[in-house]
Amino acid sequence: MRTTTLHTQRLRLEPFDECHLDGLHEMHRLPEVMRYVGGQTETREQTGSVIARVKRCWAAWGTSWWAFIETKSERVAGAGCIQYLRRDASPPEDLESLKNNPLEIGWRLHPDCWGQGLATEAARCMAAFAFDRFPIEELLAVRHPENTASGRVMDRLGMRLRGLEPWYGTTVATHVITRGEWQHNLSGANKT
Ligand SMILES: CC(C)(COP(=O)(O)OP(=O)(O)OC[C@H]1O[C@@H](n2cnc3c(N)ncnc32)[C@H](O)[C@@H]1OP(=O)(O)O)[C@@H](O)C(=O)NCCC(=O)NCCS
Repeated sequence: MRTTTLHTQRLRLEPFDECHLDGLHEMHRLPEVMRYVGGQTETREQTGSVIARVKRCWAAWGTSWWAFIETKSERVAGAGCIQYLRRDASPPEDLESLKNNPLEIGWRLHPDCWGQGLATEAARCMAAFAFDRFPIEELLAVRHPENTASGRVMDRLGMRLRGLEPWYGTTVATHVITRGEWQHNLSGANKT
């Protein structure tokens, strides 16, 4: 199994598994969480299907979605991903076909966990994983144009707005950070 668990100061990032069903569903059933990520809340069964699909992605790609476990409470605080972007709204059956697409980073938090810097903390760790493990020259992030909270996470990560682009069957604000920019930012962070 090609899965990787990651660690930050306050979080453990665990590849999606059935043990995360309750915690992920607690988040994915909330309209305020899903507002800009498809707009539809999930039933428990749908969250279970997402976990099953994500496990197939981990097996095919060696990357996909993590559940963010807050270590002090052991609860699911959020979720995030490094995965291949796609043009269509629905995922294809043939996961291999996406491997020529750019990698994207993404995140979401349970509202109880907003405003604490947890998404940015997890994002820095996931971006490091992406640049360490994959021979990519750039990492993308996409958001609904009105999703300013997510845009601020992209800014804090050092990403630049590239423009409006067609991904996931819609038009999204697309942000980018190159490998060189990431390494430059890291060396700056090390000096402080
Ligand atoms: C997008 C989303 C994850 C952002 O959450 P967030 O809590 O604003 O982001 P962070 O975890 O990085 O926290 C940053 C905020 O915490 C504050 N903060 C408090 N303590 C902090 C700390 N120790 N370190 C850093 N920031 C801290 C920051 O000031 C910042 O607030 P600001 O943006 O008002 O200035 C959240 O709004 C969400 O889950 N939305 C629904 C799902 C979604 O839209 N996902 C993105 C799809 S593209």
